[in-house]
Amino acid sequence: MKLADLYMFLKPDIKKIESELERAVEADHPVLQEASLHLLHSGGKRIRPVFVLLSAKFGQYEIDRVKYIAAALELIHMASLVHDDVIDDADLRRGSKTIKARWDNRVAMYTGDYIFAKAIEKASFFENETIHRVISNAMMEMCLGEIEQIRDQYNWDQNFKTYLRRIKRKTALLIAVSCQLGAISAGASREDQNRLYYYGYNVGMSYQIIDDILDFTGTEKELGKPAGGDLRQGNVTLPALYAMHHDSFCREEINHIIGTSGDDPGDISPLLDMINHSGGIEYSKTLSRQYLEKAFRSLDGLEDISAKKSLLDIASYIGSRNS
Ligand code: IPE
Ligand code: IPE
Ligand code: MG
Ligand code: MG
Ligand code: MG
Repeated sequence: MKLADLYMFLKPDIKKIESELERAVEADHPVLQEASLHLLHSGGKRIRPVFVLLSAKFGQYEIDRVKYIAAALELIHMASLVHDDVIDDADLRRGSKTIKARWDNRVAMYTGDYIFAKAIEKASFFENETIHRVISNAMMEMCLGEIEQIRDQYNWDQNFKTYLRRIKRKTALLIAVSCQLGAISAGASREDQNRLYYYGYNVGMSYQIIDDILDFTGTEKELGKPAGGDLRQGNVTLPALYAMHHDSFCREEINHIIGTSGDDPGDISPLLDMINHSGGIEYSKTLSRQYLEKAFRSLDGLEDISAKKSLLDIASYIGSRNS
């Protein structure tokens, strides 16, 4: 089953969001316009807008209002990916060249900034101060998460807490806030806003842990980019962290082959094999499942409407995704 099959009833509404996104990336400058459209048309699961819409179903659902929040969240996500590919020195995303590879880092910087600004413009449809505060805070936290990742790069001695705090900032909060803002913008009750926020947070933690697992276990075809990029870049994610904590030989090998300087380590497939056989993948899967179980429980108490079933189904799907 495909992800989109889990929320078929939202299809016309998702189409409206796509039109908002198309309109948002129109720019007077040809390079900005082409670069933004390139990213928009390269695909993407649009999972954050889906969380916004499903959460809004617990209040007074009006697509012509909530679509601005949904578009804003996807734009924030898109902008963060453009910048992330600069930081991660990534040449491929969604099977196409990244903006930094097709143009350069300077174009990627301004395209990302431009898309961020467009997100703020979309959100300005709402006068509610809380909405703007929540969005700004999520954007700040994402930057902190990415900066912390730069600080912790090539640090083979970091602990699990550092990893969890980093993924909370860079990924989980934006998904939490997608759910929360969907609920706020539709006037859902405070209790439901909180339930949806915690659902999003737990789904988001699990989502990034699985993204980090897939970077070791996925194929280039599934991922739309080469596997092993995280380790090659000196980014310590959960499978590697586990392997290094449980096997000092593995830690030494990583330190020896990847080093601390950012030089091209060459073929890292023996390291990937070592981590794949270290128990780190199974450990990461278990932790990701625990977050998903918390996500399921966060939905207790919400009214039994079809959106609730979709949220449950999406959480199950995330547990088994391979792209
Ligand atoms: C990728 O997010 C970055 C992470 C937070 C793991 P998605 O997996 O939602 O990326 P797209 O938008 O579908 O390409
Ligand atoms: C998530 O981290 C990126 C952001 C939250 C901006 P990754 O660096 O793992 O994302 P991918 O793997 O490049 O999509
Ligand atoms: Mg990346
Ligand atoms: Mg990254
Ligand atoms: Mg990744």
